[in-house]
Amino acid sequence: METNPEIENRLKLLQEKYAAMGQDMVSYLDGLLYADYLTYWDYIHLDTLLSLQTPKTSFPDEEIFILYHQITELYFKLVLHECEQITQHLNLDVAFFSFRLKRIINYFEALTHSFSIMIDGMDKEQFLKFRMSLLPASGFQSGQYRMIEIYATDLINLVAKDKREELRLANIQQKYDQIYWRFGATELASGKQTLTLKQFQTKYDASFLTLLAKVEKSNLWQAYLKLKTKDQDLSELENLLKRFDVLVNVNWPLAHYKSAVRYLNREPEEIKATGGTNWQKYLPPRFQKRIFYPNFLSLEETEEWGKTWVFEVLASLK
Ligand code: HEM
Repeated sequence: METNPEIENRLKLLQEKYAAMGQDMVSYLDGLLYADYLTYWDYIHLDTLLSLQTPKTSFPDEEIFILYHQITELYFKLVLHECEQITQHLNLDVAFFSFRLKRIINYFEALTHSFSIMIDGMDKEQFLKFRMSLLPASGFQSGQYRMIEIYATDLINLVAKDKREELRLANIQQKYDQIYWRFGATELASGKQTLTLKQFQTKYDASFLTLLAKVEKSNLWQAYLKLKTKDQDLSELENLLKRFDVLVNVNWPLAHYKSAVRYLNREPEEIKATGGTNWQKYLPPRFQKRIFYPNFLSLEETEEWGKTWVFEVLASLK
């Protein structure tokens, strides 16, 4: 059989590749000869993926609940993938930063938009029953969600809002001890830390602290500040950062809050959340005032953060 020049060229390159590593090319060619063709289902591990839904009850809608959480976690992974690329880039420029930030914004827009799958997509009676089998687990325990926040901004902006001023110059551990979500996870009756929080910290404290140290000087805000010293036009990037901030800290939390109101609001007293938080006081963005990039906002904008939306959400559910 004749070999064409293209094949000869590839064989030569392969020979060089394997020789450089002291490998025998013929053995690798044998491997190629016997290997099966790749399939779609093997490549994306489809059977494994589709076997990962194991409801705790026989209510059919519990599967929707599990699947949508899994879908969200995969999107969070996509966001983190971009955060890593931005923060680890050795020669970060405005174009790369903006391009990747647009991807992140796209993911959060998709998530915010699709949250109706939770809000309108489950039978309330089924939900109120199957959720009782999930105690004390809660989306509150999403480690990836907290990692996105760590990548996004300086830790001081994640400290509970009434502690921020006094801790401005504190070290990572001192700030981390006062991170906002610790205060949300208190038991309604006793004011003690919830089991949900204790479990969450046992699993994630060490990795959160490692990540905090790693991105202290390279998180998205720090990356922006570095570019600012280079005297470039950052107006588009600033708008993207603002958009990202509103999406993560207002729009997504409000879409999420809408689901809590839909299922857990029952006059005269709300239904207890699986994570045991005082969710009506904890979840609304206007109370938490989580803002990644406060320097971009006027005093009035800071004051209004999340407000109009909350009223709209509540009105739409009356
Ligand atoms: C019917 C759907 C849902 C309801 C009723 C709901 C309810 C709640 C409640 C009440 C909390 C406060 C913590 C607690 O006491 O448990 C919470 C927190 C949280 N949930 Fe959900 N949730 C829903 C769906 C989701 C989904 C799909 C995700 C995606 C991962 C998610 C992620 C989170 C996160 C990240 C928090 C912490 C928010 C914060 O600290 O500000 N939730 N959820």
